[in-house]
Amino acid sequence: MLFDPRIPETAPSRGFPVPLEGTRSVLLQASSQGKDPALEFAASVAAGLERRPRSLDCRFLYDEEGSRLYEEITRQPEYYLTRTEASLLARYAVDISRLTGPATLVEFGSGYSVKTDYLLSAYEAWSPEVSYLPVDVSDSALRGAICAINRAHPAVRVIALHGTFEEAFALFDHVSPILALFLGSTVGNMNEEESRDFFTRVADHLRPGDHFLLGVDLLKDKGLLEAAYNDAAGVSAAFTGNLFVRMNRELGSQIDTSGLEHVARFDAEKEQIEIHARFLRAQTLELPLLQRSFRIEAGEEILTEISRKYRIETLLPEMETVGFRLRRLFTDERRWFALLLLEKG
Ligand SMILES: C[S@@+](CC[C@H](N)C(=O)[O-])C[C@H]1O[C@@H](n2cnc3c(N)ncnc32)[C@H](O)[C@@H]1O
Repeated sequence: MLFDPRIPETAPSRGFPVPLEGTRSVLLQASSQGKDPALEFAASVAAGLERRPRSLDCRFLYDEEGSRLYEEITRQPEYYLTRTEASLLARYAVDISRLTGPATLVEFGSGYSVKTDYLLSAYEAWSPEVSYLPVDVSDSALRGAICAINRAHPAVRVIALHGTFEEAFALFDHVSPILALFLGSTVGNMNEEESRDFFTRVADHLRPGDHFLLGVDLLKDKGLLEAAYNDAAGVSAAFTGNLFVRMNRELGSQIDTSGLEHVARFDAEKEQIEIHARFLRAQTLELPLLQRSFRIEAGEEILTEISRKYRIETLLPEMETVGFRLRRLFTDERRWFALLLLEKG
């Protein structure tokens, strides 16, 4: 699916379903979107810069340009993740739909919903009245997804939520049965504690018989992993740099982004890729909204994102502990990526 910027603007009301002209789709604004977004962003940056080691919340990587760059990353030859997951969905979407039966699809961190297309086609075979509820902090990605889905699947009703994962749970009380989707190994961006809390919350909000489809990147050779996050075209580097461009634009941070370097390396002990912005020169990062300044030393690295890599033998017991049972495990011949179809017990 291609991004189509012609998606109509929503009315400025917040918290109410806003019908998108000429379609059956609606875009909901979660309550967090009604708060002062710059203040929330500034507070998150300040908290991250006070932490040791310093780190930033990766959710802020996804403004309009960040979402566009992420899509470009998925098309880089080194970035095997999206291609491998897409091929699994292409091959097994019909099997997945047969295993779950008809369901409303709720997707966390849906982005442009490109791969979801396979599932929408499979579920449309069950009923022409499929409902799809994508949730994402990126307004531009949601609009692009709605537009593309309306074109490719005119009968699918899209109810999109512009908000956080946390805010998505409010939707769960209104629909059943559910197939909750968490694709793209996005869960790998959460640390161990965050992902355990997230899985627990997903399980708590699903009813027995509902399903959860989880896409995870499996542990593999360090060289392959590091290449995926250091593409030769420099798109991953631009994605990291864009977080600081966003800070300059939205927070007035006055960072010289030419003095930043993208550093992505595999930590074998933690079994995760760690992405940093390294400051080549000392700089002062300003947060005028909070009247705060932070001195960053030459050579200092700020963690912008982690991407954890998984072993099925440790992930499965974790999912069982929170109340899921495995219906089917789908993986490719090289065992690079896995889709776990889980049922709430
Ligand atoms: C790694 S991308 C994956 C996109 C898509 N699911 C895919 O597989 O290509 C992560 C997506 O999650 C969204 N996201 C990140 N943190 C989020 C949060 N806390 N709440 C809601 N969406 C979030 C981003 O905007 C982005 O679209």
